[in-house]
Amino acid sequence: MNLDHPGIKALLAGSNDHALFQEAFETRAQHFENQVHLRGIIELSNVCARDCAYCGIRRSNRSLQRYRLPPAEVISLAVLAHHLKKGLNTIVLQSGEDDFYKAEDIADIVRGIKDRVSVDVTLSLGEHDPEVYRMWREAGADRYLMKIETFNRENYQKMRPGCDFEKRLELLGRLQGLGYETGSGIIIGLPGEGIDDLADSLLRLSELKLDMLGCGPFIPHPGTPLSDELGGDYQTTLRYTALLRILNPLANIPATTALVTVRPEGRVEGLKAGANVIMPSLTPARNRRLYEIYPGKNIDCDCVLDNLDGIIAEIEAAGFRISEGTGKSKVVHQGSIEK
Ligand code: 5AD
Repeated sequence: MNLDHPGIKALLAGSNDHALFQEAFETRAQHFENQVHLRGIIELSNVCARDCAYCGIRRSNRSLQRYRLPPAEVISLAVLAHHLKKGLNTIVLQSGEDDFYKAEDIADIVRGIKDRVSVDVTLSLGEHDPEVYRMWREAGADRYLMKIETFNRENYQKMRPGCDFEKRLELLGRLQGLGYETGSGIIIGLPGEGIDDLADSLLRLSELKLDMLGCGPFIPHPGTPLSDELGGDYQTTLRYTALLRILNPLANIPATTALVTVRPEGRVEGLKAGANVIMPSLTPARNRRLYEIYPGKNIDCDCVLDNLDGIIAEIEAAGFRISEGTGKSKVVHQGSIEK
């Protein structure tokens, strides 16, 4: 399979779906057999200082009711989830960029969870000072997720006003240097982008030697300036997932919630296209509906207490098995790690 820029473009356009999905599935099977890692995500707060054009929890969306979960509730949710013994062995703490939680508060939450249950903790809390990342790492955080969202610089400035592309890339490097398993990814089909941008981003992402990679289709949100734009294409997202797997055989790759939101079969089709991670929301229902990054997110009750059994049954019926481990990264990093 030709995986240079023109080759990737052709595959993204659907030139050889059969071979693409078969190779992605075989690569997945070779390194992960039929295992699926569950990562339970707790959405701490939908308050955000940023104003990203695509995102429903952007600062300028005044019609959204905002919430913050108290730290004690976050810890008990994580403990409860692990005690279900259903394979929720990683807890992801995600939030808008909300300075209500001080660096020490997050460190306390991480310690509070790790002291009580044997889980890995992933943080997805946006851009912070590297010294804050260090504090959280020392508190026991294992992984950090921070999507770059797009590699098209010009569009980056439009989509993420006030943010700096280079700084975000640099922070990803700092996170790697601190010994976090580090993840990033993009949104498929942002307005103003085409297949060239997708091919570029696949090659750029794959150079970064990340432990986790994810992509989801753009879903227009009515409370944003992009409300009337077209959404990202489902099939292109599956192809992109397959290419991520082929180019990054050892990475942990989710079938993203955005993919499942555009089509419920995205969960299983994403896994078949090479993904090996599913991230059910553990956020309490009353808050979950308000964590509306895009419409439809979290309303299919992608929730542990409501339908985790249903999700697991669906995954198993497709021939996959829920992993009993924490799904640590298999990516081998060269050079010394600044601990
Ligand atoms: N459509 C699809 N994905 C989105 N995200 C944010 N807004 C949207 C949207 N409108 C994704 C981004 C972010 C993740 C939490 O959700 O990739 O990093």
